[in-house]
Amino acid sequence: MVGLDGPDDAAVWRLSEDRGIVVTTDFFTPVVDGAYDYGSIAAANSLSDVYAMGGTPFMALNIAALPDQLPPEISSEILRGGAEKAREAGVVIAGGHTVKDKEPKYGLVVIGFIDPRTMLTKGGLREGDVLVLTKPLGMGVTTTALKQEKVEEADIQEAIGWMKRLNKTAGQLAMEFNLRAGTDITGFSLLGHGMEMAEASGLLLNIDYAQIPFIGGARKYAEKGLFPGGAFDNRMHFGSQVNFDKKIDEPAEMLLFDPQTSGGLLLGVPREKLDAFKRRASELGQPVWVVGSVHNGSAAISVRV
Ligand code: CO
Ligand code: CO
Repeated sequence: MVGLDGPDDAAVWRLSEDRGIVVTTDFFTPVVDGAYDYGSIAAANSLSDVYAMGGTPFMALNIAALPDQLPPEISSEILRGGAEKAREAGVVIAGGHTVKDKEPKYGLVVIGFIDPRTMLTKGGLREGDVLVLTKPLGMGVTTTALKQEKVEEADIQEAIGWMKRLNKTAGQLAMEFNLRAGTDITGFSLLGHGMEMAEASGLLLNIDYAQIPFIGGARKYAEKGLFPGGAFDNRMHFGSQVNFDKKIDEPAEMLLFDPQTSGGLLLGVPREKLDAFKRRASELGQPVWVVGSVHNGSAAISVRV
C-alpha cells in the first residue's frame, strides 16, 4: 500500500481489510556522549516512523556497526539503551546483526501492525486542518554545539530528554481522534517534512513562527551558527517553496531548517476536533503545540513571522 512511489515514513503491506504490516528501519552515528542515551535515542527514532503512520510496533531487530577497539561495556550499554526503550514501547527485540566499522552506528528494523483504513500518511491533510507539533525543535543545533564542545550541560540534557521520548502517546492520540495526516520531524527539518506533506496533499501550509516551540539553547546556538550541514542542504532543497511574509533574521530562518533527531510528530487535526484533542493530550501528559493551518492553494509553505 505504501512503498517507493510517494515515499512515506514506513512501508505498509495489506494483510486483510483491517490489518496491515508496517516496516521501517533507521540507524545513525552517535549524537550524544552517553552510550546508553545514544542507544535509547536511536531506538526511539527508529520506532517513531511506525507511530508516524498510526501503527503499533511489536517486534524489532538491532542493526549495529561497532569499532573493534570499542570496549565491550560501551557496546552493551548502547544495546541496553535500545532494548530498554523498545521494552517501554512494548516491543520485543528478537535478534539483529552487528558488523565491524570504524564509526559506531546503531538503530532498529521495526515491524508493526496497522489498520490500513485509518493509517496516517503525509498526503492525508485536508483544508481547514490545524497543524500540531508534539516536540519542540532545536535538536540539530544543540547536538552540533555538543560536538563542537560549546554546549551547556542543561541544554544538552534537555535535548536528550526530548530525543529519548517515544512518539507512542502522540501516535495514540492520532488514532483516538481518527486523524489521517501525520509524519515525524527528522532530518529534513520542520519545513522539509512540512513540504513533503504539502506536496503529497496538494495544499498550502501556513506556519506561525511565534507558535513554534524551541528547546532552551536553540536560539543561542543558532546565533553562533552551530548548524549541522544538513540544515543548509534543507534550506537549499526546500527553501524555494517557502515564503516568509517579512524579512526574518538568519538564525531564526535556519532554525526552521534544522534537522531533528527523534523529533515529534506533525499532525493534521480537523479544526472542530482541536479543543477535545488538546484536552485529551493534556490528560495523557503529551505536550502539543498548534503551529499552523492548512489551506487551498499550490503546494507550498507560507511562514508568518
Ligand atoms: Co519519518
Ligand atoms: Co525514518
